Amino acid sequence: MMPAKVVIFGGSGFVGSCLAGRLAARGVQVTVPTRRPESRKSLALLPGVRLLAADSHDPLTLNELIGDADAVINLVGILHDRDGSAPYGKRFAAAHVELPRRIVAAMRSTGVRRLLHMSALKASVDAPSAYLRSKAAGEAVVLDPANGLEVTVFRPSVIFGPGDAFLNLFAGLLATAPFLPLAGADTRFQPVYVGDVADAFCAALNNSETIGRVYELGGPASYRLRDLVAYVGQLTGHARPVCGLPYFLARLQAGILGLLPNPPMSPDNLRSLQVDSVTDGLHVFPGWQPQSLEAVAPTYLKPFTARSRLDELRRHSGR
Ligand SMILES: NC(=O)c1ccc[n+]([C@@H]2O[C@H](COP(=O)([O-])OP(=O)(O)OC[C@H]3O[C@@H](n4cnc5c(N)ncnc54)[C@H](OP(=O)(O)O)[C@@H]3O)[C@@H](O)[C@H]2O)c1
Repeated sequence: MMPAKVVIFGGSGFVGSCLAGRLAARGVQVTVPTRRPESRKSLALLPGVRLLAADSHDPLTLNELIGDADAVINLVGILHDRDGSAPYGKRFAAAHVELPRRIVAAMRSTGVRRLLHMSALKASVDAPSAYLRSKAAGEAVVLDPANGLEVTVFRPSVIFGPGDAFLNLFAGLLATAPFLPLAGADTRFQPVYVGDVADAFCAALNNSETIGRVYELGGPASYRLRDLVAYVGQLTGHARPVCGLPYFLARLQAGILGLLPNPPMSPDNLRSLQVDSVTDGLHVFPGWQPQSLEAVAPTYLKPFTARSRLDELRRHSGR
């Protein structure tokens, strides 16, 4: 049965905004805690969605938020951590491991049992990147049977859709650069549409057979990164030569870009690119038929102008 009230941690981001809207449209009362309510105003306008300024790491706040819900969704995730400690740095630990631990503790103390948790495809304790290792540690925390919770874990490949940070990043780069020196050019991805990811979460909330399962989410086809970038160039009217970088140059590029405040690529991201982000075909979500990249991307990746770039930046900053 669909829960009446759901709290979504990380619900103010790209995936969360889509999921909050879809749950609210199904009559679910959705609460979304955020650190930055002023930049997430559009979410507060959705009927059925309550946006709250809250510190999700505070145990008392967690108890209050979770105690008021019938189910919990955790989408909190970050891509960068300059702390290079092994197996992962402090920021990854806080967002991907400690927060899930606190959510689990609050669920146990309030008696709320249903949890949907967002991980990432290829998360593994011995993955090449700290991002993927910390995601694996987060999975282990929420899936521990001693918690007595009803947990479903999702591991998506890269997620695309209006406002995404992946295809839009390349659209922006292609609009300004005469050619694109690309790290991980031959790494394969299986892009999955954000609306399909949201639908899988909605369906899991309503299906007890998904409890205790880990699902991989990927679109119907996989592509090399260089082909995805070329496709973005074609859609946006900025087809540019794409030059795959040898690893030592990719490392140099990631080292320099990683120093930027909001880096398009970091050394850890580069290490994530050492593994193909494609599903194994064994952890398929039941009855789920994701849309193709070609059916969706042309609806929002249009010939790129300074104006549309500005609109995209506004959308990202929530203004
Ligand atoms: N997008 C993809 O291609 C992709 C692929 C695989 C897996 N995933 C996973 O899917 C999840 C959602 O991704 P997304 O693209 O929607 O991310 P996003 O747009 O960057 O949103 C991140 C969300 O996490 C919250 N958050 C970030 N750091 C936090 C912290 N330290 N404490 C509390 N909240 C924090 C943000 O809340 P505020 O409002 O407080 O900033 C925001 O709601 C993540 O776990 C990500 O790792 C995404």
